[in-house]
Amino acid sequence: MDTSPRLAATLLALLSLALCAAATARDLRDSTSSIDIPRDGYKLRHTLHARGYQHYRFNGTAWVGFNATAKLYDQHKQEVGVHYFLLQADALGGRPTWESLPNKMRGVPRSRVTCKSVAQVAVEQESIPWVLLKSTGSAGDEKYFGGVAYVRRINTKHGLAPRNTKRALEGDVKKSAYACDYSFYVPA
Ligand SMILES: *[C@@H]1O[C@H](CO)[C@@H](O)[C@H](O)[C@H]1NC(C)=O
Ligand SMILES: *[C@@H]1O[C@H](CO)[C@@H](O)[C@H](O)[C@H]1NC(C)=O
Repeated sequence: MDTSPRLAATLLALLSLALCAAATARDLRDSTSSIDIPRDGYKLRHTLHARGYQHYRFNGTAWVGFNATAKLYDQHKQEVGVHYFLLQADALGGRPTWESLPNKMRGVPRSRVTCKSVAQVAVEQESIPWVLLKSTGSAGDEKYFGGVAYVRRINTKHGLAPRNTKRALEGDVKKSAYACDYSFYVPA
């Protein structure tokens, strides 16, 4: 029996495996590149770790995210701020907001940024997507959130909507614990 067709078939199988692996690597790069910061003109100010909850409400057919509440921690694990959604979108349609802890002396937030999501990509099946958000308004000092132009939600863990819709009633609310990192970018 001539072995060359079998050899050819084996080589072909190996080649397609290699192509497959290359495609997977490229897909991952392509998919996260959709949430890259615009190439020119921005630099990373800092990245904060977040732990908290994604909030979902059942609308009769699906669980829909309507809020998030999380504490924000710096690299020394100090709590430096909070993340939540505005009740009413701002003038440019932004709701997700990051706010530094109130200044104890004056009782007002030191800085704040509100954003609108512009792109997202599912990186892990069991976790909420990674997201690129663009600022719709910021205020306050430049230590944390004043002047922030873009935010990226990365390294997400969990936080997905409940799977079960059968026993849910319209208006039911559920919280789903999550963690992630938020990176804050400012004009270079
Ligand atoms: C519930 O939310 C889903 C997903 O956002 C949407 O497609 C659907 O139209 C909503 N249904 C109602 C009754 O609002
Ligand atoms: C989200 O929760 C925070 C904290 O309880 C609250 O201040 C905010 O108004 C809520 N936003 C929405 C959209 O429900």
